[in-house]
Amino acid sequence: PRVAVVFGGRNSEHAVSLMGAGSVLDAIDRTKYEVIPIGIAQDGRWVLATGSQRFAIEAGELPVVDTSGAALALPADGGSLVAYDPGSIPVELGSVDVVFPVMHGPFAEDGTIQGLLEMAGVRYVGSGVLASAVGMDKAYMKTVMAAAGLPVGRYVVVRDRDWRLDRDRVLKEAEELGWPVFVKPARAGSSQGISKAHDRASLEASVEAARAHDPKVLIEAAIVGREIECAVLESLGDDPPAASRPGEVQVQGGQAFFDFEAKYYPDQMSLTVPADIPAEVAEELRAMAVRAFETLECEGLARVDFFYTAEGKLIFNEINTMPGFTSLSVAPQLWAASGLDYPALVDRLVQLALR
Ligand code: DAL
Ligand code: MG
Repeated sequence: PRVAVVFGGRNSEHAVSLMGAGSVLDAIDRTKYEVIPIGIAQDGRWVLATGSQRFAIEAGELPVVDTSGAALALPADGGSLVAYDPGSIPVELGSVDVVFPVMHGPFAEDGTIQGLLEMAGVRYVGSGVLASAVGMDKAYMKTVMAAAGLPVGRYVVVRDRDWRLDRDRVLKEAEELGWPVFVKPARAGSSQGISKAHDRASLEASVEAARAHDPKVLIEAAIVGREIECAVLESLGDDPPAASRPGEVQVQGGQAFFDFEAKYYPDQMSLTVPADIPAEVAEELRAMAVRAFETLECEGLARVDFFYTAEGKLIFNEINTMPGFTSLSVAPQLWAASGLDYPALVDRLVQLALR
């Protein structure tokens, strides 16, 4: 089968996507699949990747999609991809059997590219339109998960209109959450645009910073607790989705929380698998992770993040329908520690999409 590995994208997790795609391209079994690497540049152009594409952080520089390759038309009906070399006739690349969108964030993990692929009749790895869209939007994600009975922390949603016309009410509601609060763009990832606010003045600055990513913002009560994550994988047969062993993530450096640097620069974060938590808590967490996956009707893989508080309570933080996917990222590490190594995980995801 022909697998198009698509990476980059028009969002602030462009570089994160490239790092994941680099790992997928290294690990995918080329005796079994014909692989077509495709980048989506920051301006939205689709290009066939060339040998000069860089996937890793080098000398502190984040990788970006290299646009020197042939430009592609969007997938057309029947999954055909067409390449355009400027000034020449289109080159038919033929049909692809599966697209593996190793991408995160808006236009990538939010149901938009999934919708495009549905329209074109192309199969793809991961969740469909609805799960992707709800999973991307932290406000709707919490509404849906709370309705499914998962424990969710307290928060306030700040829509553009609220902030422009009713700011005093927003600030008052936020104050009622107690300080500090975390301020997040509703639809972003990798901690981009997230900051912690300790008072009204810093809250206003934090909301403005989040609004640079998304006009819709969440203000969340800070939860004091350990961060425990669990990955969920759809099964190839009729079995229910499986939960990995849970792992605990801890920040190593001086960061106040898992900011972008902690997540993507070496040695700033540690993962302990299995997390050192009581066995019954681990079982409850795994069951909740599967419930979150099934509530959104996710497909393929997801990573579900929880807080485990000092009082021994589990609180659902978020679900990621296309979690960070380098071979060293949390979800692949959780599966590796649960008996499924990275190449096998990549293969499983492609097989799930091909069914
Ligand atoms: N949004 C990043 C990639 C994650 O959740 O892992
Ligand atoms: Mg996320």
